[in-house]
Amino acid sequence: MKQTQALASDSTWTEKDAGELPGSPFVRIGSLWMLISAGDGPSGDWNTMTASWGGLGVLWRKNVAFVFVRPGRRTVEYMNGDGQFSLSFFDEEYRGALEFCGANSGRDYDKAEKTGLHPVYFKDGTLGFAEAQDVLSCRKLYTHDFDPAGFLDPAIDKDCYPDKDYHRLFIGEITAYRTRRR
Ligand SMILES: Cc1cc2nc3c(=O)[nH]c(=O)nc-3n(C[C@H](O)[C@H](O)[C@H](O)COP(=O)(O)O)c2cc1C
Repeated sequence: MKQTQALASDSTWTEKDAGELPGSPFVRIGSLWMLISAGDGPSGDWNTMTASWGGLGVLWRKNVAFVFVRPGRRTVEYMNGDGQFSLSFFDEEYRGALEFCGANSGRDYDKAEKTGLHPVYFKDGTLGFAEAQDVLSCRKLYTHDFDPAGFLDPAIDKDCYPDKDYHRLFIGEITAYRTRRR
């Protein structure tokens, strides 16, 4: 289903170097979670979902983000179709909104309407939310589905993939870091 149409981002956002992103990725991603978003903001043809697995690092001489999306997610369809995606980071007060986006599909709900989050789009076309503190915009560089033959610890397959819905890895070059921090 269509999502709320995103509005152009306003002057509350500042662009910074990716190296200035504060906090440990273990906390920012693993504990506070993030929203992965892709699609076309202005038309409402976009989607977003909560993720707590992923990382930030350096690869191929670039700052990169990597995320893992299971094949059944609506978001993966947008990730596949779009050359870009974004990662939005929020303060603890938005835990409820991220819980909703992690328990419901964009196939069934307008997630912005349900959570009260306001989607915004940046000049490069990537999506963020007016309530986010930090947004990383990424250009897709690499994608690959996990091959269970590669799991060296059999517990991974057993514990994480009872339905054999192996994640698709997306590695993106971080092309912009935008923040509302002052
Ligand atoms: C805390 C949390 C973390 C999650 N992390 C991931 C993740 O890293 N990868 C993934 O595929 N799904 C993850 N999910 C599940 C998706 O967010 C969830 O299935 C969502 O409803 C998919 O929405 P969609 O169908 O609109 O894409 C997570 C859910 C929660 C609550």
